[in-house]
Amino acid sequence: MSTVLEQIEQQIAKLSSKAVRKNTGVIRTVADGVAKIDGLSDVMYNEMVSFPGGAIGIALNLEQDEVGCVVLGDVSRLKEGDEVQTTGKLLSVPVGKGLLGRVVDALGAPVDGKGPITSSESYPVEKIAPGIVVRKSVSQPLFTGIMAIDSMIPIGRGQRELIIGDRGTGKTTIAIDTIINQAKINKVGLASGDPKFRPVYSIYVAVGQKNSNIVRTIGALEVAGALEYTVIVAAPAADNPANQYLAPYSGAAIGEWFMENGMDALIVYDDLSKHAVAYRQISLILKRPSGREAYPGDVFYLHSRLLERSARLDGKGSLTALPIIETLAGDVSAYIPTNVISITDGQIFLETDLFNQGIRPAVSVGLSVSRVGSSAQIKATKQVGGKLKGELAQFRELAAFAQFGSDLDAKTKSQLDRGSRIVELFKQPAFNPIPIEQQVVTLWAMQKGFYDSLELKQVTAASVSLREFFATRKDAVLAEIRNKAALDKDLEDKIKVGVEEWKASFSA
Ligand SMILES: Nc1ncnc2c1ncn2[C@@H]1O[C@H](COP(=O)(O)OP(=O)(O)OP(=O)(O)O)[C@@H](O)[C@H]1O
Ligand SMILES: [Mg+2]
Repeated sequence: MSTVLEQIEQQIAKLSSKAVRKNTGVIRTVADGVAKIDGLSDVMYNEMVSFPGGAIGIALNLEQDEVGCVVLGDVSRLKEGDEVQTTGKLLSVPVGKGLLGRVVDALGAPVDGKGPITSSESYPVEKIAPGIVVRKSVSQPLFTGIMAIDSMIPIGRGQRELIIGDRGTGKTTIAIDTIINQAKINKVGLASGDPKFRPVYSIYVAVGQKNSNIVRTIGALEVAGALEYTVIVAAPAADNPANQYLAPYSGAAIGEWFMENGMDALIVYDDLSKHAVAYRQISLILKRPSGREAYPGDVFYLHSRLLERSARLDGKGSLTALPIIETLAGDVSAYIPTNVISITDGQIFLETDLFNQGIRPAVSVGLSVSRVGSSAQIKATKQVGGKLKGELAQFRELAAFAQFGSDLDAKTKSQLDRGSRIVELFKQPAFNPIPIEQQVVTLWAMQKGFYDSLELKQVTAASVSLREFFATRKDAVLAEIRNKAALDKDLEDKIKVGVEEWKASFSA
C-alpha cells in the first residue's frame, strides 16, 4: 500500500507545470482580405502576425475584444478557427543598393524573376518623419530635364512637388522623364570622377495601376538605361488593397535608406489618388466610420505622414518626393487633391486642354508653383529664364483677350508673338529629358531673339537643331556651363558665337 502511495508521490514530484506564454488568437471571421481575430491581447499596432500556411497580416484595428488585421498574401486558404500568432516585429522591407534595377512588391520581395535580392539590412515600413532640427533647407537642384519645369517651377533636393492633372495628361511621363534624367546625370557625373558629385537614385512606386502600364514604364526606363539606378515597387490594381496601401510606405523606407546613408534619392508615388481609394476600401471593411466623400477621417494623416518622410537631412542625404494625383475634370478643389496640395511644397498642374492642343508637356503656368525650389535653381537658368513665367502668364491672358479684338497695338502683338514662341520652345517629346546646360543655351537664344525671324512652326525644330549643334560641336561650352552653373561675360560670348554659327547654318 505504502509503495503505491510513494510511487504516486514520486510521480507528482516529477511533474512540473511550466507555462509557456505565447500570444495566439483564433480567426473569428475572414473576408475581403481582412481577418478579425479573437484573443491577441498583446499585439502592437502595425505588428506583423502570422497565419497558418505562411501568410502574414498587419494588425490595424486594436479593439476591446478583437483585432482587425489586413492579410497580405493568399487569403483564400484561411478559415474561421485558424490559429494566429504575433511575431513581435513591425513590418519591414529589405533596403540597400541591392534593390537597384529590381522590381519588388509591397513587402520588398522580388517579382521580376531575377532571383533573390541581396540585402543585409531592413527598415520598418512605417517610421516617424525626421523632426525640424535635423532638417536643412532645400538648396541643391534636382533637374527634371523638362525645360518648362526646370526654368519656371524648379525642384530642389528634399522637396515635395505634386504632379496633378486629369487622366492621360502626361503625369507619369513627367515623373519617368525625371528618373531618366537622373540616370543620365549620374552617368556623366560618375564618369567625371568629381568627388563632390552626388548621384540621385530613384524609387518608382506604382499603386493601383494596370500591369500593362507598369510593364510599359519599366520598358521605358530600361530602354533609357535608367533601370540600374532605379527601384520599382509595384502594387498593381490586381493586387489586394492591403498591398496597395502599403507600397508607398515600403518605397519610402527604401528611399530613407539612401537618405540616412548620405545619398540623394527621388521617390515617385504614382498615384496617391488610387492609394487613398485602397485605404478607403480597407477602412470600410474594417468598419471604420467614414467621413467626407466616404474616406475615413484620417486620410489626411495617411498622406502627410508619408510625404513628411521626404526631407533633406543635415549632414546626411535627401529624399525628394514627386507624388501624383489624378483629378476629375480638372477639379483641384476635391477632397484628396486639396489635402495633398496643402502637404506638398508646390504642384505641377497639367491641363487637358493644353494636352489636346498638342502643347506637351501640358504644364499650366498659372496654376503651377514651386514654393521652395527657386533657392535651388542654378544661376544660369535664372539669368536666361527668370522672366519666362511672367511672360507666359501674360501671354495666356492676352491670347484669351485677343480672340475678340482685331486691331492690336504693336506692343501687344510683339508680346503675343513672343509668348507663342515660348510655348513652341517648351514642347518636348516624352522620354527625352534635356540636360540643364542645353536648356540654358536654348533659352539664351530665345532671350536674345534668335528664333524671332523663324516661322512659328519651325521654332521647336530649330531648338532641337540648336541643341544638336552644341552637342556635336560645342561640347566644351556645354561643359563650362555645367561646371560654372552661371553665365559671365566670357561664357556668354562663347554661347553667342556658337548660336550665331548655328543660325547661319540653320537658315542656309
Ligand atoms: N511630352 C509628351 N509628348 C508627347 N506625348 C506625350 C507626352 N507626355 C505624354 N505623352 C503621351 O500621352 C499619353 C498619356 O501619358 P501618361 O501615361 O504619362 O499620362 P498619365 O497622366 O500618367 O495617364 P494616367 O492618368 O492614365 O495615369 C501617353 O501615350 C504618352 O506617351
Ligand atoms: Mg499615369
